[in-house]
Amino acid sequence: MSALTILRYPAARLRRVARTVEAVDARIRTLIEDMLETMYAASGIGLAATQVDVHERVVVLDISETHDQPLALVNPEIVWESSEHVRGDEGCLSLPGIQESVERAARVTVAALGADGQLRRIEADGLLAVCLQHELDHLQGKVFVDALSSLKRTRIKTRLQKQEREAARDARQSAPAL
Ligand code: NI
Repeated sequence: MSALTILRYPAARLRRVARTVEAVDARIRTLIEDMLETMYAASGIGLAATQVDVHERVVVLDISETHDQPLALVNPEIVWESSEHVRGDEGCLSLPGIQESVERAARVTVAALGADGQLRRIEADGLLAVCLQHELDHLQGKVFVDALSSLKRTRIKTRLQKQEREAARDARQSAPAL
């Protein structure tokens, strides 16, 4: 297994629409393992393949408090959503440190293939419903701040770019003197 690099907003590649996976084979299972490792290493609860620059319909999740109940979904589709909506704060591994309020369907049913290639249906509410909608949006090239005003998005981009500059400076300062 190997941890993958997570694309940071506003990377243009976060906008690519993922294609359908033709077969759940060894390559896809390796991708799932690597995505889980990446997600756990970053202390995330969900990750879409889009975020690691692989544009295929694969997401991984683990909303358990013990971080030992991984869920991998291939070709996930929302087949039903409640008319009732809920609003809650979300974050994203592609926008570290950013939290914003987003409105989502309160409950969804998702059909997907598991890592074993078997079709399954997941009826979700609460955090799992939010997480599924958030990750499936990534596969469509959408991120959770898209619904915000452009002023707010500009502020978020500025803040993330400042963070990256500071991280690069810190990395230079901690490099060995030669
Ligand atoms: Ni995300």
